Amino acid sequence: MKRVVILISGGGSNMVALCRSMTGDHPARPVLVLSNEPEAGGLARARDMGIPTAVVDHRPFRGDRAGFEAELLKPIEAARPDILCLAGFMRILTPGFVDRFAGRMLNIHPSLLPKYPGLHTHARALAAGDAEAGCTVHEVTPALDAGPILGQARVPIRPGDTEATLAARVLAEEHRLYPAVLRRFAAGDRRPVTP
Ligand code: GAR
Repeated sequence: MKRVVILISGGGSNMVALCRSMTGDHPARPVLVLSNEPEAGGLARARDMGIPTAVVDHRPFRGDRAGFEAELLKPIEAARPDILCLAGFMRILTPGFVDRFAGRMLNIHPSLLPKYPGLHTHARALAAGDAEAGCTVHEVTPALDAGPILGQARVPIRPGDTEATLAARVLAEEHRLYPAVLRRFAAGDRRPVTP
């Protein structure tokens, strides 16, 4: 059984989708949900599912990314993960941290990468007049939102869409895509998922 650690910063809806998927004949199980935000709503949701949680607040480490990551590594290493899933984890990780988990760390990003890496993806898709938007699961490499793509899902952009309506439509796809990619990845299959 592969051991999965999930990193979150917020509500954790992707984390919940991942955890719910890891049952039965799934080759992985969640062993820890870790947040940099003490108030992250996802922490209670993880606890409700019986999954161990930990918090490493980034605030005391302002300007000291290496110090923050050293602290973050403690609960991660103690959980002995085979796979790390970033699920709405909103801190940028240093190359040193990323390299340590090379080939074992996934992220979900709310755009059709390579379009719109970084923040405000939905606003940028709307401003560009795009006809479609979507989400991407990719392997994490030191370059931000640029690792090998493991799966994408598309949604139409409709007339009258706002950032909120588009985000909700994409998020529903995220909840399908990320579990599908993780299941394949945990089984050792890195062919992209295109539902
Ligand atoms: C998701 O839309 C995820 O793709 C995005 O944050 C949201 C987290 O929601 N991630 C990023 O923007 C990463 N740069 P959740 O906490 O409900 O899963």
